[in-house]
Amino acid sequence: MKIVFYTPQADDAPAWLASLARALPAADVRLWTPGDTAAADFAIVWRPPAELFAPREDLRAIFVLGAGVDALLSLERTRPGTLPPDVPLVRLEDTGMAAQMAEYAVYAALRYLRRFDEYDLAQRQHDERARWRVLEPHAPETFHVGVLGLGALGAQVAKSLASFGLPVRGYSRSEKTIDGVATFAGERELPAFLEGLKLVVNLLPSTPATDGILNRTTFSRLAHGAYLVNLARGAHLIERDLIDAIDTGRLAAATLDVFCEEPLPHDHPFWRMPRVTITPHIAALTLREPAVEQIARKIDALARGDAIGGIVDRRRGY
Ligand code: NAP
Ligand code: GLV
Repeated sequence: MKIVFYTPQADDAPAWLASLARALPAADVRLWTPGDTAAADFAIVWRPPAELFAPREDLRAIFVLGAGVDALLSLERTRPGTLPPDVPLVRLEDTGMAAQMAEYAVYAALRYLRRFDEYDLAQRQHDERARWRVLEPHAPETFHVGVLGLGALGAQVAKSLASFGLPVRGYSRSEKTIDGVATFAGERELPAFLEGLKLVVNLLPSTPATDGILNRTTFSRLAHGAYLVNLARGAHLIERDLIDAIDTGRLAAATLDVFCEEPLPHDHPFWRMPRVTITPHIAALTLREPAVEQIARKIDALARGDAIGGIVDRRRGY
């Protein structure tokens, strides 16, 4: 069995190749380099160039080293015919990312609930009275939190937030039942989901149906002075609308892990906004060993002719 591997982080490649060789001892695993058109049964990739797939009719599956497949599908949108049409595209299912997302979202929610963000700002002021001022914490029972996306990551995030006694709502495409979470499904229920939320955590995939969902209309349905936590993709957010919403006080603050352009350009206005907290796309990192273990299990299953999970519906975009 031949496997071709690619990551844009060249320094990480040797460790990945070694882990894959250990997990799949019978396989011949190689790093893809430009010009390599040799046969391969499987591709295991993160943000590959289009050339990797041309021409590659022998592939039996393409494994993506992440939960989101938007970058790969956008290759196909911009250059139709890039991806072999009937080859399953398989994304990672959790592999340790759900726990990381839950930590991040709980941290952000508690920081805003207890107004630690405002104490951080006050500490940097020179006015002593402003620095030593007790702020009324938000009441947990009215601190309504909404999680957009209830998949492998969003469902875990919603449950973790609910375990702190916060009233939690969740939004997905199809109907769901999650203990302790009020669930809403489909575009028709989006306004009811958003109504009066104090904090929104975004964990939707980036697709033509979800891009731009964090916009001024969405913000106008939230409680005045609500908080935004975007952990999914930069394409979900209309950046200008967030800047306006924070400038006018419609939103109190935002925590952003993902951006339209990454790294976030050094002159981007977000860097100068004290109420915007920025992290460099680290909310949930791909953990090598659990990812390799899951992919190896799926390759074995495909070799036996068994069904596997995590196959992307290319039409839906996730
Ligand atoms: P997933 O398992 O595919 O779940 C996606 C969820 O979104 C599902 O609940 C789905 O509804 C819902 N959804 C999709 N389209 C929708 C629409 N049009 N309207 C309403 N709901 C919709 O994905 P995941 O593994 O949880 O990952 C989610 C995203 O997190 C990824 O796509 C990626 O962009 C992002 N991510 C970010 C980082 C980071 O470090 N910042 C790390 C990993 C992932 P159904 O359940 O009804 O299908
Ligand atoms: C990271 O952003 C992922 O999609 O896994």
